[in-house]
Amino acid sequence: MKTKVTVVGAGNVGATVAQGIAIKEIADVVLVDIVEGVPQGKSLDLNETAPVIKTDSILLGTNGYDDTANSDVVVITAGLPRKPGMSRDDLLWKNEEIVAGVTREVVKRSPNSILVIVSNPLDAMCEVARRVSGFPRERVIGMAGVLDSARMRYFIAAELNVSVENTHAFVLGGHGDTMVPLPRYSTVAGIPITELIAKERIDAIVDRTRNGGAEIVNLLKTSAWYAPGASTVEMVDAILKDKRKILPCAAFLTGEYGLDKLFVGVPVKLGRNGIEQIVEIKLTDDERAALQKSADAVKELVDKLKTA
Ligand code: NAI
Ligand code: 2OP
Repeated sequence: MKTKVTVVGAGNVGATVAQGIAIKEIADVVLVDIVEGVPQGKSLDLNETAPVIKTDSILLGTNGYDDTANSDVVVITAGLPRKPGMSRDDLLWKNEEIVAGVTREVVKRSPNSILVIVSNPLDAMCEVARRVSGFPRERVIGMAGVLDSARMRYFIAAELNVSVENTHAFVLGGHGDTMVPLPRYSTVAGIPITELIAKERIDAIVDRTRNGGAEIVNLLKTSAWYAPGASTVEMVDAILKDKRKILPCAAFLTGEYGLDKLFVGVPVKLGRNGIEQIVEIKLTDDERAALQKSADAVKELVDKLKTA
């Protein structure tokens, strides 16, 4: 049987994830959306690229869940953007309803799958998926740190005029204004950027990383999808190829980093079982305080969830 990934939400991010999985020939993809014709049309369009890009991954678009049965990984990108007149809490509850409903449908048919959550507010939506699915923490993982770190890597490479391939960066914490970029653990060819870039330029890179999502929204009037899609594909690839790659992901912590029963972005080892290990790195007092502040912001949202 071929490996199967379900992507729920055939919008900008979902379709980009489906395309990335097909290009890398990681798995067959079932693309689900509530809007009739959209997942079917995008899947057909992507299938018609297959001869040109030389992939045998097959996509199927649908408005139902029966074809998602026995998926190995389910990526959830379904959700609404914030609309005029809608408060942050309204958005939280609306997307909670969507993510809870989607999770219920997918886990019924794929009880052994690994859930990769993308919908915002990310860390709170991971908690919704965890509660509804009842899955162990190894199988509910949030995508944000890979994206935030990719943005930081791009800014570092541009600053030093070096290949992005030489760069490495870690951004921990929740996916929001309080995220925690870690310059000490960000390197170029193994050298910490704190030895290569002046402090005020590092501060500017950290700020731009924190505002990376908003910078794109200001330009496009909607949120980003190419980098979020590529980041999600990297996680799916690491899981299905059992790469045991260490990536910053939202994980349900149970005491690690002094945080308990909360999804927060930390370095994890991703493999065929999902989270194979949560990696604890040493933090300075300031870094730890910033992570705690970010966790407090996540907790504030989680405390408002209605899902038991
Ligand atoms: P989009 O609006 O282009 O796509 C969302 C899709 O979800 C739409 O096609 C919509 O019809 C579908 N949908 C809504 N309710 C559904 C339901 N009950 N079942 C199935 N499909 C449903 O939005 P986009 O840009 O793809 O973003 C998707 C989500 O990902 C948003 O919540 C966004 O904020 C979030 N996001 C998260 C990132 C992260 O780093 N974690 C990065 C970028 C986006
Ligand atoms: C981003 O960071 C909005 O979460 C989305 O681009």
